[in-house]
Amino acid sequence: MKSFYIITFGCQMNEHDSERMSGMLQKVGYQPAATPDDAEMIILNTCSIREKAEQKFYSELGRLTNQKEENSKAKMIAVAGCIAQQEGRQILSRVPNVDLIIGPSDITRLPELVRLQKERHNPVIETSGDETYHHKLVPVSRTDSLKAWVSIMYGCNNFCSYCVVPYLRGRERSRPAENILAEIQELAAQGYKEVTLLGQNVNSYGNGTLPSCSFPELLRRINDITGIERIRFVTSHPKDLSDDLISAMRDLPKVCESLHLPLQSGSDRILSAMNRKYSISEYQEKINKLRNAIPDISLTTDIIVGFPGEGEADFQATLTMLKQTAYDGIFAFKYSRRPNTAALKLKDHLSDHIKDIRLSKVFDLQKPITLERNHRHIGAVLEVFVDGKSKRGGKLAGRTRGNKVVNFEGAESMIGRTVNVCIKTASQNSLAGILCE
Ligand code: SAH
Ligand code: SF4
Ligand code: F3S
Repeated sequence: MKSFYIITFGCQMNEHDSERMSGMLQKVGYQPAATPDDAEMIILNTCSIREKAEQKFYSELGRLTNQKEENSKAKMIAVAGCIAQQEGRQILSRVPNVDLIIGPSDITRLPELVRLQKERHNPVIETSGDETYHHKLVPVSRTDSLKAWVSIMYGCNNFCSYCVVPYLRGRERSRPAENILAEIQELAAQGYKEVTLLGQNVNSYGNGTLPSCSFPELLRRINDITGIERIRFVTSHPKDLSDDLISAMRDLPKVCESLHLPLQSGSDRILSAMNRKYSISEYQEKINKLRNAIPDISLTTDIIVGFPGEGEADFQATLTMLKQTAYDGIFAFKYSRRPNTAALKLKDHLSDHIKDIRLSKVFDLQKPITLERNHRHIGAVLEVFVDGKSKRGGKLAGRTRGNKVVNFEGAESMIGRTVNVCIKTASQNSLAGILCE
């Protein structure tokens, strides 16, 4: 039996690429294995966003290749994703036991390259990038049966000075709207209720698509698909958050009241050095417009601390923005040096010690804000889409339109339905309540 196991690192785009690789392999007769030990082929789908992600991958790869040497069963080890694109053949000089290296825009060739490797018994490397990838319909083996990821665009043109993604995922390419709509119609027919549209910069969707279709227009067309109940999307760039998009979010019933809008820094000077192309006052104006249009919108963000040249005043400005905006949740990271990026050449890189202190200050500040933002739901009746059993014994779990986890008692037959839950308690990570009639 030909079998495979995929280990995924990184963002939702990588998770979804793994679903595609799984779909393609199953189509040519491979079976998913329950554990890496049972698999004839192991694929590591890698991430290079920060140094830590890279280290995690190399230690996992080292472990697997050692096992491969000890194990008499010859296993194929493949490296896919962003580190494959970044390092290509160089991975072999570090870890010679790798059999296949394949970049993220080449995965449609995976079955063919696996076959080639088996014939040749030599490492196969493909990172040239398929320029027509965004037009292709690829079989997908999805991990969930109710919620689905749908890629609407690939790549990124923004070149934020700290970020490696534009070098690894190539230029921005939008999928034709007809293909996206056909995929979502098919998902609805299979019983999927929620879609999350994926792209590095979804709100610039539509550049160069023919016939032309803007992101708000795409949302309108998806909103018309019967069977789909909720629409989400990640990630939006503040500079591309248009009034038209805010109106679409306000007016379209299926588009959820939740937005991830990465701020990165609260200092104009640092934002400019990051090449983010917006100022704090522009960002604040957009937040005001969003909250005026959609008062109960749930907002989350990404923060980088310790960017080169970040002084104490710049850092304080980030803390001020966190206080003022009162996000429902944040992701915060220490600045990490990445290959080829413009920020590498900036002066005044900060010590890890300062970055650590700043990161904990950010988390300490945000913790009570998140709790307060969750507490505000107590007493409210919220629509919860039930997606499974809760991690803690016996209860059901689902998500609000604002993307918060809610635990409550109920019958398993409710999984896949939207129910009203009266919120009774709130903690840092979730809400809990009782079912309302
Ligand atoms: N396209 C998305 C996601 C980018 S990666 C966006 O623009 O938001 C997710 C987050 O990782 C970024 O928002 C940023 O906060 C963080 N990140 C990216 N590169 C980084 C680096 N070199 N060091 C630390 N954090 C980084
Ligand atoms: Fe990276 Fe900026 Fe593109 Fe996001 S928008 S992927 S942070 S370059
Ligand atoms: Fe990582 Fe590549 Fe995604 S670097 S965050 S897997 S686009």
